[in-house]
Amino acid sequence: MIALAAIALLAVTLPAQAGKPNKKAKKFTHETVEIPAVTPKVIAVETAGTQLLIQVDKKGTLRTVHYGAPAGNPDAFIKFSVGASVPETYPAVGGRFNGQDALHVKYADGTQNTELYYVSHETVAKGGITTTTVHTKDYVTALEVDLVYEAHRAEDVILMHSVIRNPGKKPVELRNYASASLNLAADDFLLTHFYGGWAREMQMDQTLLTHDIKVIETRRGTQATQSNNPSFLLTLGKNFSETDGEVIAGALAWSGNFRISFEIDQSERLNIVSGINPYASAYPLKAGESFTTPEMIYTWSREGAGGASRNLHRWARKYGVWNGGKVNPTLLNSWEGAYFTFTTETLLRMIDDAASMGLEMFVLDDGWFAKDHPRNSDKAGLGDWELNDAKIPEGIDYVASYAHSKGLKFGIWIEPEMVNPDSNLAQAHPEWVVQSPGREIYQSRNQWLLDLTNPEVQDFVFGVFDRTMSLSPNIDYIKWDCNRNVTSFGSPYLGDEQDRFFVEYVQGLYKVCERMREKYPDVIVQCCSSGGSRIDYGSMRWFNEVWTSDNTDAITRIGIQYGTSMIYPACVMASHVSAVPNHQTGNITSIKFRFDVASAGRLGMELQPKNLSAEERAIADRCITSYKGYRDVVFNGDLYRLGSPYEGDYYGLMYVSPDKSKAVVFTYCLRYQNRASGSHVFRLQGLDPAKNYKVTEQNVDKSCWWGNGKSFSGAFLQEGGFNPKLLKTNTSAVFILESK
Ligand code: DGJ
Repeated sequence: MIALAAIALLAVTLPAQAGKPNKKAKKFTHETVEIPAVTPKVIAVETAGTQLLIQVDKKGTLRTVHYGAPAGNPDAFIKFSVGASVPETYPAVGGRFNGQDALHVKYADGTQNTELYYVSHETVAKGGITTTTVHTKDYVTALEVDLVYEAHRAEDVILMHSVIRNPGKKPVELRNYASASLNLAADDFLLTHFYGGWAREMQMDQTLLTHDIKVIETRRGTQATQSNNPSFLLTLGKNFSETDGEVIAGALAWSGNFRISFEIDQSERLNIVSGINPYASAYPLKAGESFTTPEMIYTWSREGAGGASRNLHRWARKYGVWNGGKVNPTLLNSWEGAYFTFTTETLLRMIDDAASMGLEMFVLDDGWFAKDHPRNSDKAGLGDWELNDAKIPEGIDYVASYAHSKGLKFGIWIEPEMVNPDSNLAQAHPEWVVQSPGREIYQSRNQWLLDLTNPEVQDFVFGVFDRTMSLSPNIDYIKWDCNRNVTSFGSPYLGDEQDRFFVEYVQGLYKVCERMREKYPDVIVQCCSSGGSRIDYGSMRWFNEVWTSDNTDAITRIGIQYGTSMIYPACVMASHVSAVPNHQTGNITSIKFRFDVASAGRLGMELQPKNLSAEERAIADRCITSYKGYRDVVFNGDLYRLGSPYEGDYYGLMYVSPDKSKAVVFTYCLRYQNRASGSHVFRLQGLDPAKNYKVTEQNVDKSCWWGNGKSFSGAFLQEGGFNPKLLKTNTSAVFILESK
């Protein structure tokens, strides 16, 4: 038996004033609680190509000693010494630890020390997943923490979360409650993370980590990923590479405030603490309650950023996205073509055009609802989810049935978490609005946010989805939008427990999503939040796809899609061809270039088709037909990025089918080339060097590659023979590679 070091020595008598004893002073005793000794061991969490090793010493202290390629027999690490200053596997405030914490608990008596020691662990294997749960405990307060590791064997992905239990008789306050902490050794750490704003999501920042702490986080509540995405790539080394070197990718499955912090401390090791952002959220945990943190998703690869992305994508298609990998239909969305101004006639003609172009669905965006405060602009109507029959007197079913009669599916837009002050709902339920007493309720896009911590609001939001679905049996798709962030946060429902707000908003959202999926498993639901402001693996569990960005300009979209592809798979990436000059940037590009950019994700169109010229229509028809011939590879193939749109004049990407028999290659020239300088060589990746691939350029009469229509070995294509002539700015070429 090992005893804790003696703690307090004194009856603490802090003088409130000289000479007077502090009446609130407590008597601490010298008695220490005994910690049961344990047999030293190493707990191994393993996938096919990775190993995470947690060392347990004789005192029961846990330390993560390895994450990366399999390092052989785990027991070799029993005596491996990382030094006492290295953070524990789940570092808590208290004990001998002074570093970055994953857990900070304030107890009912005001003390804030927690020391977690190993109690036991168990491993359960089911299908392709092995779950290891490590039970830990603080022997003074009885607080229990389970560290849960879900190893997805084939995908080389490990999910980590914690469950914090308060078995005591008094409430405690969780001041930090991270999902996971990961400790790593390397000489250098290059962090790639994703920031952005409206219409420029998933931009990349790279930082060579230095000593001290680097934090990526958001405090926006909703639209959380408009500032930073809860994900990163970490190169173990100085230089970013698509193809080589060790890279760890991490992503938190949480759609609200998050914080991921990276600290290189005096041990020269890196500690990454990731989880819900405790900002304004000291979470109360009553006696007997437990708190389950969201999953932190990790993968490791020695094939550079590309390898790490592919691991995540494979995992996401199987486990992380609702119906991941299932091919979603091409579509025409009404937004940029009609905005708020349409009649039934407008919609029917758009449906006709969509059908004749070979698209597979029509989506009616914003503007179809609210009678007393009609939704004719973004100033009114949100909250009043009844048909505006001044616009569509025949009803939604009429339009949806018309779409079906033309062989199209039908989708419709909602924004159920929101209310315009100018609406019946705002008048009927002022107490449902997020607000703080006595303070202005700030508007953003003329709207307020509904308080999803309130179960009545959850019922309402689910009801919006449910009632919209009941407008027609022919609704196949819902676009769920969310166009503002949280300001002056506060919930009338939560009373004096406002600390719960940010956490329980997200939990409320997920409860609604769960109900949505119980009742509507097959409806395709797009996650939109002014574009991609809610793209994370928390929402993706419930949604089929994401509206990647309101930015539909092909030139800048390439960068947004590039960043998105680092973490999220192509099957979720909705990409639409829109009109020029582009409504967001004013850029003018050819319709072929726009198609060649949008076709790297789930292809759609978002314009008024009748405004296209005959020539543009012909190109559109051709591109849509061609896309249908290779989209199975876009949705389910492995992604290989060929360079970066931020560097050099050319960029490309390709998807390769799992059996390597088929690939689609997208190539772009992004900056003007001196024609005398010759053409750029794209070194393709992911092919079988020994297979012969027939290369066919798509959507052109005259190919820009001399080898078009011929067959070449994978080795030739990968090692330097593929050089389509793309010599003008914003030109592109798409090729299908097939091996018979
Ligand atoms: C924001 C979305 O990102 C757009 O696509 C569109 O649906 C508008 N909202 C509608 O208000």
